[in-house]
Parts: sequence; structure tokens; C-alpha cells
Amino acid sequence: MSLPVIPLFKPYIAPREELMPEIERVLYSGQIGEGPLVVEFEKAFSEYIGMPHCVAVSSCTAALHLAVILAGSPEQMFSTAMTAEPTNMAILHGKSKPLFLDCDSITGNIINDLNFNVRYSINTLMAVDYGGIPVNLGLFPGVRVIEDAAHALGAKRHGRMVGQDALFTTFSLQAIKHITTGDGGILVCKNKEDAERARRLRWFGIDRGVSRTSVSVSEIGYKYNMTDLTAAIGLVQLKHANEVVEAHRANAKFFAKELRGVQVVLHQEPDDEPSYWFLTILSDKLIRNRDAIVAYTNACGVSCGTVHRRNDEHPIFKPYAEKNPGLDSFYSRMLHIPCGWWLTDQDRERIVTTINAWSTL
Ligand SMILES: Cc1ncc(COP(=O)(O)O)c(C=O)c1O
Repeated sequence: MSLPVIPLFKPYIAPREELMPEIERVLYSGQIGEGPLVVEFEKAFSEYIGMPHCVAVSSCTAALHLAVILAGSPEQMFSTAMTAEPTNMAILHGKSKPLFLDCDSITGNIINDLNFNVRYSINTLMAVDYGGIPVNLGLFPGVRVIEDAAHALGAKRHGRMVGQDALFTTFSLQAIKHITTGDGGILVCKNKEDAERARRLRWFGIDRGVSRTSVSVSEIGYKYNMTDLTAAIGLVQLKHANEVVEAHRANAKFFAKELRGVQVVLHQEPDDEPSYWFLTILSDKLIRNRDAIVAYTNACGVSCGTVHRRNDEHPIFKPYAEKNPGLDSFYSRMLHIPCGWWLTDQDRERIVTTINAWSTL
């Protein structure tokens, strides 16, 4: 009899007795659209991250788009190809263009591989905490940063929560992220004025506090708002964020100790505490044999693989491709393995046995 497959991702859903009464309450309350629960959720998220200006939206992609607009839609911004498509799609949505810098060959995170002060007048950066590993923002002094922290809820950079450092930080509450609301996102703004504008932009450019007949819309707005139904789920789910992230961290540490013949990607800076949405391992064996290795691990009941295609291979982003040897190295040697809260002791042992079987050959 074959064993059930250990998934690479699994939605965390709070216990039924906590979640269901809140969903039922909001469904029959007479208000399921954007209302007081969105305000409450923003407040709870602000407390969690330790930043006062959090704006709840319909997805991380929406948050990224708003961040690009709030950053002034610069003609071009530094970005990374080692990410999910929405990162760079949002740059195009915001009428900007990416310029792909190279990546750290161990973490896949963006690095400053050029003297951009000399070569370019670009002063905005889209940075991604790939897999939940905080990107080293110290490499980019004086640059305005949009941090795509879709994978990095609860991660810490030099002891500070991710969300506290960049001009704008975005989080995803999509189905398989650490904490899900079904779908949803958060935009964290450093400045109050940006957050106020983001709240207008997320709903057709309309200020919710003003009567509909006296409101004046002066710029293009979107339908990016969160609903009270989503926020009710988020309020319950968020209470479990710490335990979820801690479970991911404990698993990463376990694998770092037990896996042989592969490099386990633990952090970019030693004093960071990543949130390990997935765990990345690196091996030269993956350069030519990744498909066979993935087929083998899947046959052993361990789901693993490469989660994202490097964006500069997509025709839409190819015009912005650069020579990036660090990315080439990372991309050819990487494999993502399960690391989440759902792993049992037996799952962890099976993952170790399965990986070590091919890595130590
Ligand atoms: C790095 C990254 N950024 C942005 C997103 C978009 O998130 P959402 O689905 O909430 O729009 C994702 C989604 O998986 C992602 O992986």
C-alpha cells in the first residue's frame, strides 16, 4: 500500500470551533463587504508587524501594484527574476519596467551586482524575500524599497519583523501562504499619507469616510478592497501566525541537521530568522538530474520541486533579461522541499531518508 504523499504546501486553517462561529457571525450580520472588520483586521495586523499603517487588500499582487503607484511609477526599477510572476507583473501594471539584477547564488535573493549609482539613475528596488529568507537590504543604501514579503510573514531581519524596514512591504494571504484568508493581501506603508492614498486607490479612488455624493475622485482607482468576510477569517487565522511560523522554523533546523550531501539554505544574514515558506536545498546533482530526482522523491511520497520559473525566461519579461551568473547557479541547483507546520515526526524522517538516498549516492 502506498503512503499518502507529503505535500509541499498545505493551507493552515484554524480549529473549526474558533473559525466557524466568526464566519457565521459575519455572514448573517448584514455586512459582508468592506466594513468594520477590515479596520479591525488592519489593526491586528499592524500590531503583529509592529507598524501602524497596514492596508488590507484583495491580494498581494494588488498590494504590489499599489506600491508601484505610490512609489511614483518610476520608468524603471531594479527587480529580481527569481520570484513568482506577480512580482514583476505588478511592475508592469504600475507602468514601470524591471531591470533584473543578479541573485545570491545560495539564497536566490537579489544582490547589488553593479555600481548602480554610476550606471543608472534608477532609485527604486523591488526586493523579494525568496522562500521566506529576508533579503539583505543593507546592499542597497539610499534606494527606495518595495519589499515583496509574500513568502515572509513572521520573518525577522536583524531582529526586526519584516515589514518594518522598506518604504512599502507586501504580504500575501493567498491559499497556500503561512496564513490564508482564502485570498487577500496587506500593504504596509512607512508613511501615513501613503496609507491614506492606498485606501482610496483600493476602492475606485473613493474616500470611504465621505458621503458618496460629496466625494471627488481625482485619480484612477481599483477594486482591490478586502471584505469583512475575508477579514473575519484573517482575524482568527492571524492568532495562529506565530505557532505556524515557529513550526516552519523548527522543521528547517531539523533538516539542516539531518540532511547530507546537499546545502540547506538557512539565511542570507546569520542573525536573520526566516519563515521558510518552503525549504530550498542546493546540489550539483540537480543540475542534470533534477527531473529524475523529483520523480524519485515523488515516488517515495515526498512532494518537492521547483516552485517558480525564473521570470526572465517568460516572453513578457525577456526584454529585461540581463547576464546573471548567480541566478544561473541558484536556478540550476535548487530544489524546494516541504518544511511546513503539517509535517509529523514520521514525515520528517521520510523526507530525510528520501533526500539522503539520492544526495549521498
Ligand atoms: C513572491 C510572490 N509575490 C507575490 C505573489 C502574489 O500573491 P497573491 O496571490 O496574494 O496575489 C506571490 C504568490 O504566490 C508570490 O509568490
